[in-house]
Amino acid sequence: MHSDQLPTGNDGVASSRRRELEIELPRRSEHIDQDAEYCSVFLDGNWRKIRFHDYAEIYRIPGLYEQLFHDILDCRSPDVVGKLLKEELQRQNVDAASLRVLDLGAGNGLVGEQLRNIGAGHLVGVDIIPEAAEAARRDRPRVYDAYHIADVVTPPAEVDGALRSAELNTLCCVAALGYADIPPAAFRAAFNRISEGGWIAFTIKDRFLSAEDTSGFARLVRACEEHGLLQPRSTERYRHRVDVRGEPLHYVAIVGTKHADIPVDLLP
Ligand SMILES: C[S@@+](CC[C@H](N)C(=O)[O-])C[C@H]1O[C@@H](n2cnc3c(N)ncnc32)[C@H](O)[C@@H]1O
Repeated sequence: MHSDQLPTGNDGVASSRRRELEIELPRRSEHIDQDAEYCSVFLDGNWRKIRFHDYAEIYRIPGLYEQLFHDILDCRSPDVVGKLLKEELQRQNVDAASLRVLDLGAGNGLVGEQLRNIGAGHLVGVDIIPEAAEAARRDRPRVYDAYHIADVVTPPAEVDGALRSAELNTLCCVAALGYADIPPAAFRAAFNRISEGGWIAFTIKDRFLSAEDTSGFARLVRACEEHGLLQPRSTERYRHRVDVRGEPLHYVAIVGTKHADIPVDLLP
């Protein structure tokens, strides 16, 4: 589908600083798996083909992430998680200011911004690529209290120390689990950083929780529930965004509470 067939417009934060980019999506007839989706962007007099999963390249171009995923493909995941978490906090009479959040796969800060909007007290972003941290600093410089570039499974000593002293009580992970992004071992490592009784809020593609899952998340999430490690309090299947043909991609958002660490033998 071409960009003129899908909704366009500006989102809030960065729009005033942002120039509109010329973006073309592949033709409607092409069937492309979510993992292989791409667009073409007109830059410096040339069309450049960029894969959606090439986050480093996307973050380097100011405004591209927001314009592509949010304006054109109507991504709703940060809003949905923010809303569910806020509702659950209200239901449980928890002050959002008490949240000390680890935003795993934080990207350029759209989720952090939602968490600030609901009043989260302390925000730590983690992403595996430096371009994400640079884009968060460029686009949303006041959102995170700290932002680390690290693999949470094997963080360098200084990041390990900083995450310990942050006294994290909430994990947020939006649109970043599965495919070549965050694997079950990294989800477990981040989950185990959160204090017992803390909040776990994440989104995941619906297929990764189904019987056909090969990512390992379906088994892991089920095991966490069965062993009483994660108590889901709110679960919603929703339209994450549309794909390049305008067809809906459905994800599941889960907001729950952590009761104990995930032992290593629960990993797939
Ligand atoms: C689709 S983006 C989502 C960004 C943000 N959560 C949002 O919803 O706007 C996925 C992010 O996960 C990051 N990522 C991929 N693998 C990761 C890993 N193992 N640890 C931390 N971040 C990772 C990517 O670099 C990218 O920034």
